[in-house]
Amino acid sequence: MLFLKSNPAKKLGLIDDQKGIIKRYQREKTNWDKHLNHSKQYILDTTYQKKYKSITILGSGWHLDVPIAQLAADFEKVYLIDIYHPQQVRYNCRNLQNVSFLTQDITGGLIECFAKKIKEKSFVLNEVQIPAYSEIPQTDYVVSLNLLSQLDILLVDSIKHKCTALEAEYVTLRKKIQLAHLTFLQKFNYSAIFDFKEYVFDSNHNYESECDTVFVSPKDVHNQKDWIWKFDSQGYYYENKIVEFAVKAVSNFEFSPT
Ligand SMILES: C[S@@+](CC[C@H](N)C(=O)[O-])C[C@H]1O[C@@H](n2cnc3c(N)ncnc32)[C@H](O)[C@@H]1O
Repeated sequence: MLFLKSNPAKKLGLIDDQKGIIKRYQREKTNWDKHLNHSKQYILDTTYQKKYKSITILGSGWHLDVPIAQLAADFEKVYLIDIYHPQQVRYNCRNLQNVSFLTQDITGGLIECFAKKIKEKSFVLNEVQIPAYSEIPQTDYVVSLNLLSQLDILLVDSIKHKCTALEAEYVTLRKKIQLAHLTFLQKFNYSAIFDFKEYVFDSNHNYESECDTVFVSPKDVHNQKDWIWKFDSQGYYYENKIVEFAVKAVSNFEFSPT
């Protein structure tokens, strides 16, 4: 997919959201680094001495959580997949001959479908079909990297003010998108690192509320690790609130709806 002005991902705000990630990281560096290092270490630990030749990272973005130099050294081929690869990231990898950037919609085309429906003003939520994502190159190991909740929430946010649906209908759609992604992953040796709960505190860190960000639950998990990601300590994401996410990392597991 070319990055044109008419790019549906740009229209739906996904590129701006990606820019927001680096700005938030710059504000919250110390807090985020713990989460990012856990993510990097998990990828390295789960692939260590497994003799995989190729690896694909889904949601590589700014490489904040991608141990790119180590992966390029350990694997014959590294594929990085995202809806957009920032120029700076491409530049940083210019000497890594075995690293390829692929620009793809990991939902298999939902971004374009949503952009079209919004333009045509023809949004009926429960008619949305989830396409199969099949463009991924032949690969020995796949990592879904801090991506799962992003696949659905960014799309849902882009339509919320344009269609009158109940909250439960949005959740049903989100669950369908997440299940499609996890079902896809099960064709591979894989890991998934994802936030699954959002916690909101007041500015004194008194607990206020929590909500699920993922609507599927793993069974038969391997190598599970859990940690807290201190996402926003300065009240930018929700005004004057502290926001944290519970994050899970798991490998080669099955999923079922919650
Ligand atoms: C929360 S970020 C993960 C952090 C990222 N690894 C980084 O270091 O910036 C999620 C990434 O998934 C990408 N993304 C979201 N939805 C996508 C989709 N449908 N297809 C491809 N990439 C997507 C975003 O562009 C973003 O770079």
